[in-house]
Amino acid sequence: MHPYLNPELSVADRVADLLGRMTVEEKVGQMLQLDARDGVRQHVLDMHVGSILHTSPERVREAHDLTAQTRLRIPLLVGEDVIHGHSFYEGATIYPTQLGMAASWDPELIERMARATAVEASATGMHWTFSPVLCITRDLRWGRVDETFGEDPFLIGELASAMVRGYQGSGLADETAILATAKHFAGYSETQGGRDASEADISRRKLRSWFLPPFERVAREGCRTFMLGYQTTDGVPITVNDWLLTEVLRGEWDYTGMLITDWDNVGRMVWEQKVQPDLAHAAAAAVKAGNDMVMTTPGFYQGALDAIAQGMLAEGDLDAAVVRILTLKFELGLFENPRRPSDERISAVIGSHADLNLEVARRSLVLLENDGLLPLAADAPTRIAVVGPLADDAQTQLGDWAGSSGQVDWLPDGHPREMITTVLDGLRSLAPEGSEVTFVRGADILELVPNPAGETFPDGQPRPPVVEPAAVDEAELARAVAAAEASDVVVAVVGDRIELAGEGRSTATLELIGGQVALLDAVIATGTPVVVVLLASKPLVLPPSVAGAAAVVWAASPGMQGGRALAEIVFGLTEPSGRLPITFARHVGQQPTYYNQIRGQHGDRYADLTQSPAWAFGEGRSYTTVEYCDLVVETPVVTAADDVRARVTLTNTGERPALETIQVYVSDVVTSVSWADKELKGYRQVSVAPGKSVDVELEIPASACTIVDAAGGRIVEPGAFELLVGPSSRDEVLLRAGFTVE
Ligand code: NOJ
Repeated sequence: MHPYLNPELSVADRVADLLGRMTVEEKVGQMLQLDARDGVRQHVLDMHVGSILHTSPERVREAHDLTAQTRLRIPLLVGEDVIHGHSFYEGATIYPTQLGMAASWDPELIERMARATAVEASATGMHWTFSPVLCITRDLRWGRVDETFGEDPFLIGELASAMVRGYQGSGLADETAILATAKHFAGYSETQGGRDASEADISRRKLRSWFLPPFERVAREGCRTFMLGYQTTDGVPITVNDWLLTEVLRGEWDYTGMLITDWDNVGRMVWEQKVQPDLAHAAAAAVKAGNDMVMTTPGFYQGALDAIAQGMLAEGDLDAAVVRILTLKFELGLFENPRRPSDERISAVIGSHADLNLEVARRSLVLLENDGLLPLAADAPTRIAVVGPLADDAQTQLGDWAGSSGQVDWLPDGHPREMITTVLDGLRSLAPEGSEVTFVRGADILELVPNPAGETFPDGQPRPPVVEPAAVDEAELARAVAAAEASDVVVAVVGDRIELAGEGRSTATLELIGGQVALLDAVIATGTPVVVVLLASKPLVLPPSVAGAAAVVWAASPGMQGGRALAEIVFGLTEPSGRLPITFARHVGQQPTYYNQIRGQHGDRYADLTQSPAWAFGEGRSYTTVEYCDLVVETPVVTAADDVRARVTLTNTGERPALETIQVYVSDVVTSVSWADKELKGYRQVSVAPGKSVDVELEIPASACTIVDAAGGRIVEPGAFELLVGPSSRDEVLLRAGFTVE
């Protein structure tokens, strides 16, 4: 037996032995991750790939069989975008999108969700998920806002860290653990005009201030893989950004895990960014910059071999990357157990987390407005007109990266319809006995026309078709108005669709498109109270008529149980508790609207519009009111090594229980360089019973009250600070108390 096959030896010894046996072709192949939709035979047998992605259930088995025929039998790492549930496994549990989950502000819940997802994914032979996304949302026009945890670096760090713990479980030796990926490193979301993967115009100081902290946190906590974004910064493609990859990630943060490029990043340096003349140069540059695995650049194989033949690269330059990849494979125990799909586990766990999913969906809904109409009585029959193109659209409700969202080809019809509760299904099943629930679509959203630039990009990837807003359908509209007039309440379900969200699908506008505005205008004008349910992947701009609606709920893309969770809230069976992890604009021209903007601007509004957002970061209503008073800082003077401790009293002045998210912001009164006026530094979720008061202790480390100074160092600057405590980021609702750091 070769030493590398001996589990008694140390991982380092096994890696060294195996590395010594590999040919240069096998090393280059080990660094490649290829698309299994193209077939796996050639990938495994001819190109010796180290990893595959987008692998159908049948192909996973085929790939394992083929691996067993290879010379060294190095196991494959099978990776997939298991983003909010096991996205592309038929019948797996699909949860709300990451942005939806973020509205729970609940790391413990998200950790449980990720654990359950790892249990489902690992049963099917997946070893690695490309999740979570740690990008901070900056411009709502960006197509990938739904994949983020929102706009705040602290909240993102809390939730991402929980998600990584959930995926990686008790350690890689556990058969149900999957590798997590922190992506997209770093600055990808700093788009221009929201356009996907455009140049990220961002200084190192700005990166250190807002973009890097969540990544640093999960790197230090043991997230085992990092994925790059697509962007260039200051002219340098992220794939060859030495400063970020080597100095910061592997140097300052001591990251020892694996680094994977994003899709065809190596090829893009040639055909898209045009900073490398050919694949040999691009491959050499990518290897030298410290990338370990190259995602879906098949030409990397020959390119790297050519680079070696031409003297641009030495065979030994590949070794560090190969060692890191093999180390992970040994740590996962794949040489002893390649973790093939297990029929027994599949039938036991796939789709088995509906209860947890319902819990996540409930917590993800954000009640934005309510004039008192909600909750509807759960025991008095009523007539409900359900209108809108998204009221009964099961697959759209799942959002991007799920079933038929377009990334894979083996689930053309999406996930099983019977596993999904739409809003219409939910209202029908929970409406009190004797109620009448009618449904009229009322409007369409869009039509697709072929992209005049052609069906594919130069790399062969499909080019999304062009969206044209649907025309107002007068007959449908009239039916919706008639239904509204004949009802006691209207539930109007509007929003966006997969064609308006995702990679390469940023939007120039944020308005509801197609016949949706006309539908809202018309049903609201009937005078029947209207509950607007915004089933939208990201914050959209609602029309002025919505000021006349009785209630507004944002549901993001709420997953399989979304309709049930929504109906429970409508009938008061669940208390609404979601809080916005992201700001809603009043107009697309207000971009950017994130709350933690830098001080210093002439005035505070546009000539023609306020700068104040429609709904701010942290906002969300309950079915009761909670008052905050008596904020006291118990430690008025601290050193940077101390904790700042404070207390506040909350009183539930209504008649229903509240789960309150108490938000703690810090404002550094005078800073040596310009800085955000306030930043979230902590929060607590506390239940407050009707009529009761609770005193809540709050604590944040003074060492968190940092800024990034002009030299790029993160420091606490002594002096005066303010603690801002309240139910959202809006200045008007925050209590303030000062403290000093000596
Ligand atoms: C490209 C996306 O940017 C990334 O997030 C994803 O994980 C990979 N494709 C694989 O699907």
